[in-house]
Amino acid sequence: MTQRVALVTGAVGGIGTAIVTELAKAGFKVAGNYIPFEKDKLPQWKEARQKDGVSVELFEVDVTDFEACGKFVADVQAKLGPIDVLVNNAGITRDATLKKMKKENWDLVIGTNLTSVFNMTRQVIEGMLERKYGRIVNISSMNGQKGQFGQANYSAAKSGIHGFTMSLAQEAARNNVTVNSVAPGYTATPMVQAIDEKILKSIIAQIPAGRMATPEEIAWTVRFLADERSGFVNGAMIPVNGAQYTSF
Ligand code: CAA
Repeated sequence: MTQRVALVTGAVGGIGTAIVTELAKAGFKVAGNYIPFEKDKLPQWKEARQKDGVSVELFEVDVTDFEACGKFVADVQAKLGPIDVLVNNAGITRDATLKKMKKENWDLVIGTNLTSVFNMTRQVIEGMLERKYGRIVNISSMNGQKGQFGQANYSAAKSGIHGFTMSLAQEAARNNVTVNSVAPGYTATPMVQAIDEKILKSIIAQIPAGRMATPEEIAWTVRFLADERSGFVNGAMIPVNGAQYTSF
């Protein structure tokens, strides 16, 4: 059987690294992007993946730039073949209460976390519809479901991802393309570890599981949605939050 091709944005971040590892180990050919800011950690990152037997084609791409995303998709397709799985994982935080939030930090978070989802998905959707196969997985957040003090920008972007997901799923379902989102709760990554220690402690105290998620637990959910056998799971949002926020 030919290997499926998966493209993961934000590939060298906390959750991104776990996703590319999970997908590569599941037999996908995997490509991803990093941003210039992450260049310093690349040699170490690549060495660790090599030791783990994980191969990832990496490209330097700014996912807030539509044209750059077009080139990224073309480059990945030239190297690995048509994209079967797109994981929109790239995301950042710039937390502040709204009264202190700078316009540039609103724009940056919306651009990186939400507009990037359009930029990447728009570049792959036509091919997926034509080939009648695709798995699109968007990494949203529990804080996009419930809101979070200090995250008006982030929560707006992550809620937006759910709307995007539900709409595109309806457009694409007939062509065997699924579009789903995963909503992680607090996950042990450098992004979360950057929260003030006292605040983080109080957050963990509110998680019924008594701990944060591991990046691997998020990656496993992505792997499930990326599978050929998950074709009837469409337009869904899967919470992975240790029962911190339950709804139906
Ligand atoms: N609810 C209600 N009130 C709160 C509150 C909360 N959750 N958190 C703080 N406050 C209160 C404070 O007690 C304080 O009250 P007083 O003025 O009476 O003392 C007031 O609001 C101001 O709060 P801060 O001093 O915290 O304000 P700040 O400007 O110093 O910090 C902040 C604001 C940077 C947003 C800080 O509150 C913070 O880091 N919060 C955590 C935000 C967070 O959870 N981010 C998640 C990042 S991880 C992620 O996003 C991954 C994911 O998907 C889950």
